[in-house]
Amino acid sequence: MSKFASLLALLAVVPSLAYAQSPVWGQCGGIGWTGSTTCVSGSVCTKQNDYYSQCIPSSSVPTSIPTSSPSAPTSPTSAPGSPTTSNPSAPSGTPSAGNPFVGYDIYLSPYYAAEVQAAASSISDATLKSKAASIANIPTFTWLDSVSKVPDLGTYLADADSIQKSTGKKQLVQIVVYDLPDRDCAAKASNGEFSIADGGQQKYYNYIDQIVAQIKQYPDVRVVAVIEPDSLANLVTNLNVQKCANAEATYKACVTYALQQLSSVGVYQYMDAGHAGWLGWPANIQPAATLFAQMFKSANSSPFIRGLATNVANYNALTAASPDPITQGNPNYDESHYINALGPMLASSGFPAQFIVDQGRAGQQNLRQQWGDWCNIKNAGFGTRPTTSTGNPLIDAIVWVKPGGESDGTSNSSSPRYDSTCSLPDATVPAPEAGTWFQTYFETLVSRANPPL
Ligand SMILES: *[C@@H]1O[C@H](CO)[C@@H](O)[C@H](O)[C@H]1NC(C)=O
Repeated sequence: MSKFASLLALLAVVPSLAYAQSPVWGQCGGIGWTGSTTCVSGSVCTKQNDYYSQCIPSSSVPTSIPTSSPSAPTSPTSAPGSPTTSNPSAPSGTPSAGNPFVGYDIYLSPYYAAEVQAAASSISDATLKSKAASIANIPTFTWLDSVSKVPDLGTYLADADSIQKSTGKKQLVQIVVYDLPDRDCAAKASNGEFSIADGGQQKYYNYIDQIVAQIKQYPDVRVVAVIEPDSLANLVTNLNVQKCANAEATYKACVTYALQQLSSVGVYQYMDAGHAGWLGWPANIQPAATLFAQMFKSANSSPFIRGLATNVANYNALTAASPDPITQGNPNYDESHYINALGPMLASSGFPAQFIVDQGRAGQQNLRQQWGDWCNIKNAGFGTRPTTSTGNPLIDAIVWVKPGGESDGTSNSSSPRYDSTCSLPDATVPAPEAGTWFQTYFETLVSRANPPL
């Protein structure tokens, strides 16, 4: 799928070089641009940033949108289930202004810490072992990728609440909401438990209600959520895939419900926005901005919908030293360029979005054969540690969303969730099922961490 997809993404850009006028959504200017600077009739060349101007249709309704590369995150946590306590007060509906990460300690998932400790204990080299063990102190997100994981959230919130009370340090719990019906509609490795054909929309609402019920009990603990990795991005570029076209209305209804309900209990939310090599392509970025702004408005423009999360479970640099050759043709060759281009488009559509960026596995660059490759990429290393010192006013925080060491997908071609991306030459094989521990991969991430551990 991704080879084909990357080619299409390139084709979306290349023709504009050959024509006298750039097509609708095509590039028409920017630093380094050598193609046409005029647009076909019915569209206007509009500067997006110094690197990129684009032909925006005067009527502004996108017609056909080329496919680009999906990334496929996946990652679970399953932890000791434990009952919830009752404490019925709800948080107020007023968000604090500014960056929700500032002034908070990020709660460390005990499940991931246990995975890391077990992994470190099986390493014999003393230096590598101690570096590996240090990963347990770096916060990642907890993926609520099935209903059965929701009670874990209650456990973590109770734990965070008691840490907060005993230390006086305010706690922030990071979650990924990831259980849409017909999930991962353009790939296979992360298919979920609900199907649209089998009442999945109501089941999803119930899943959200259960999350909300947990959060309501701990109004003093801050929760930050990434909303549904890949889902809206698939609606931007993959409506040519039947499963995605069929899921469009359901995805929108479910994401709107999640945004509204989580806002009602004060959760700070970032909708997943793919990455530079997906929605950052000139043909995709404006349609993406239009869709995200529409989702924001459909959830009544709640200020708890803080913005977008990019590069979730992916490998792109925040700021590349130089463009990876596989990014050729896309002026948004790293997450900073993507965010700097997308942010103003969102703002002008009425969504003053801020960003968080996953850098968990982005420590090493120029590893992939194609930009769309996403599965257990060989020779990757842990990246920049989570921080609010991002150097970019649009970026609230660098985060680690994907728990490094958990597989992106199996390389076993007999598995029902096998995706051929997971046995490409730049994927590490043999790889276990998505979300399960991948010891050799974890050890590589540790030894190739950049900055070093
Ligand atoms: C590959 O998957 C099949 C089907 O799930 C399973 O029977 C087989 O044991 C797996 N092979 C390996 C090497 O894990």
